[in-house]
Amino acid sequence: MNILVTGGAGYIGSHAVKLLLRAGHRVVVLDNLCTGHRESVPPEVPFYQNSLTDREKITAVLREHKTEGVMHFAAFIEVGESVREPLKYFQNNTAGAVGLLLAMKEAGVKKLVFSSTAATYGEPDETPIVETSRQAPINPYGRSKWFVEWILRDTVKSDPEFSFTALRYFNVAGAAKDGTIGEAHHPESHLIPNILYAAMGKKEKICVFGTDYPTPDGTCIRDYVYIEDLISAHILAMAAQKPGEANFYNLGIGHGYSVREMLDAAEKVTKSSIPIEYGERRAGDPAVLYASSGKIQQELGWKPQVTDIEEIIATAWNWHSRHPNGYAV
Ligand SMILES: NC(=O)c1ccc[n+]([C@@H]2O[C@H](COP(=O)([O-])OP(=O)(O)OC[C@H]3O[C@@H](n4cnc5c(N)ncnc54)[C@H](O)[C@@H]3O)[C@@H](O)[C@H]2O)c1
Repeated sequence: MNILVTGGAGYIGSHAVKLLLRAGHRVVVLDNLCTGHRESVPPEVPFYQNSLTDREKITAVLREHKTEGVMHFAAFIEVGESVREPLKYFQNNTAGAVGLLLAMKEAGVKKLVFSSTAATYGEPDETPIVETSRQAPINPYGRSKWFVEWILRDTVKSDPEFSFTALRYFNVAGAAKDGTIGEAHHPESHLIPNILYAAMGKKEKICVFGTDYPTPDGTCIRDYVYIEDLISAHILAMAAQKPGEANFYNLGIGHGYSVREMLDAAEKVTKSSIPIEYGERRAGDPAVLYASSGKIQQELGWKPQVTDIEEIIATAWNWHSRHPNGYAV
């Protein structure tokens, strides 16, 4: 297929580009590089440094490359920042998606895979979280994505030829198995890279927020899905879409690891002692979050291949230890 990847220079998008090419698809990237890295995209891939708001340009790119489907990763992702600057998030994540949809409509592109998030569930009533669990996001980031899910539902209702799959990711983790690309957010708010920065001395210590949660070791439990498994779900989802479909799937591995378990695993992988500071719980951090991904396993045959946390952390360590300054090295 001819696929446009928005946000293709970001952490997840760059892995999508790599695996789409490997699967034989023709890929074009649109990324304004506000947080992405040009070096993470192979030079032979057509690259447009444009924003989601550049509607005419996107329409022209979609037409020029005879695009058949779009994978939409481009967004801002910092929960804390979204609380301080909500409009920035609604403009980029929500209005940005509308701009993309208008361009797709103009160019007659009918298939979309959208990066949604577990943050659309907020603090869940039940675990494992299933797709029909109540969605009640507790921050503007989660709401900026949740609104897009509704916009997509309405778009399908108005155009029976259009179809989409919204994939609600839990914690995405790890790096390409060949070590060529990895996670490089600035600032970095995700646990695994921050643990690894502490292991390599780039960060003084790792803060563990809360040790008195009702979990076996008192620290929070989260579901970590390996990046290449996450991307394989996108490829399956795009291939399976039929006109008029509105699909929603959770992407997690169906069980979680505690922060303490993550630290132990990282110490084993890095063969180092990681400096830790224990602090208070953070507001809005539920004790346990993990997904049921039974629906996508049943309907699309998706099966995560890498679920051992040491193995996942080892792929990240392979990247971070060789790129201590991200793509600047
Ligand atoms: N990383 C996670 O664990 C996680 C979890 C749930 C959902 N997601 C979603 O996955 C997607 C990708 O996340 P990521 O971790 O790769 O983030 P990232 O910041 O690494 O990548 C986002 C990319 O989008 C680009 N971008 C942002 N706004 C743009 C705009 N207006 N026009 C063009 N390009 C723009 C950035 O330059 C960057 O390359 C996001 O939509 C995010 O909400 C990520």
